Amino acid sequence: MRYYMLLSPSHRALCGEPSALLNTTRHCLRRDTYATSILWGKETLAASNFAVMTRYSDNTGELVAVKKLQPNKQSTLEDFKKEVKTLSVLHCDYIVKYRGVCYSTGRLSMSLVMEYLPNGSLIGYMESNQHVTPRRMLLLLLRSGMEYLQSLRYVHRDLAARNILVASESLVKIADFGLTKVIPCDKEYYRVTQPGESPIFWYAPESINESRFSHKSDVWSFGVVLHELFCYCDTNSNPKRLCMQEIGHNVQSPSISMQLANILKNNWRLPAPPNCPPKVYNLMMQCWVYNFEGAACFSDLGNQIETIMQDERETLRADKKLWHIAV
Ligand SMILES: Nc1ncnc2c1ncn2[C@@H]1O[C@H](COP(=O)(O)OP(=O)(O)O)[C@@H](O)[C@H]1O
Ligand SMILES: [Mg+2]
Repeated sequence: MRYYMLLSPSHRALCGEPSALLNTTRHCLRRDTYATSILWGKETLAASNFAVMTRYSDNTGELVAVKKLQPNKQSTLEDFKKEVKTLSVLHCDYIVKYRGVCYSTGRLSMSLVMEYLPNGSLIGYMESNQHVTPRRMLLLLLRSGMEYLQSLRYVHRDLAARNILVASESLVKIADFGLTKVIPCDKEYYRVTQPGESPIFWYAPESINESRFSHKSDVWSFGVVLHELFCYCDTNSNPKRLCMQEIGHNVQSPSISMQLANILKNNWRLPAPPNCPPKVYNLMMQCWVYNFEGAACFSDLGNQIETIMQDERETLRADKKLWHIAV
């Protein structure tokens, strides 16, 4: 078979042949990071505080998600560069895959190119798939991603259902490394000194009180993700909503974190989701131990999850046996 370069998909993509490609915005990719394509806008995925996700395709290769730093938000450029750098060094099946960076003409804006996961985040997926129960599988896979991050001394700092992407019923991936930090080698934690917005309703008390982040504070947030998962990401049971119900809606912004720290100190925790097995709620409570030194670690949690799953399988088998005897 002969190879005609001019007809090759990647050549057409490089030349930007309009009929062969999808229309709208054109971006130039840094050659060293994202090889042969020029990206063309296809559809907007989701807007967020500083980035817009756009789905691109050169009609021949894989679809990619592009997270774009909005040009008027110059103050976050450094943070965005850090996010790009962090994702570029992570190689794990349970973490969204980095594909490269791309700049608009004149380098006025910069974008992060990632693999595209058509199911989006856990939030939308769980809301619209209440009939399926992929939760047990999700738990294990999520744990594997977190153990990998921990092995590299990373603290994610924004672990929440909105930042977990769904590849399939049996595979989820951690995303959004905008707040991620590396714990210094001589320390057990990272102390944040820069001001900025924080997802406090997912935070451990030591993070709210002392801006101290460690694997244990990620474990706390992991417990909150479990809670979201077992509530099927129902907006009425959203962690922020439940915490604000307890704090009182009349409390104003600067004192919300103080009030939140107070209720946690007084041992208030998110209530058990409806129909949540007691063993799973117990797991959440182990993530939410006030004194972080006594909190569970990711490998403990993983072992316990495996035991719970094993028990469930055995109960199911026993039930089936009983049923056979009965009929
Ligand atoms: N790779 C991806 N594939 C599909 N959807 C994605 C992808 N990355 C992000 N999204 C969607 O965009 C939303 C926001 O992305 P995220 O990286 O969390 O941005 P932000 O930093 O603004 O929170 C996610 O909750 C998800 O719905
Ligand atoms: Mg996010």
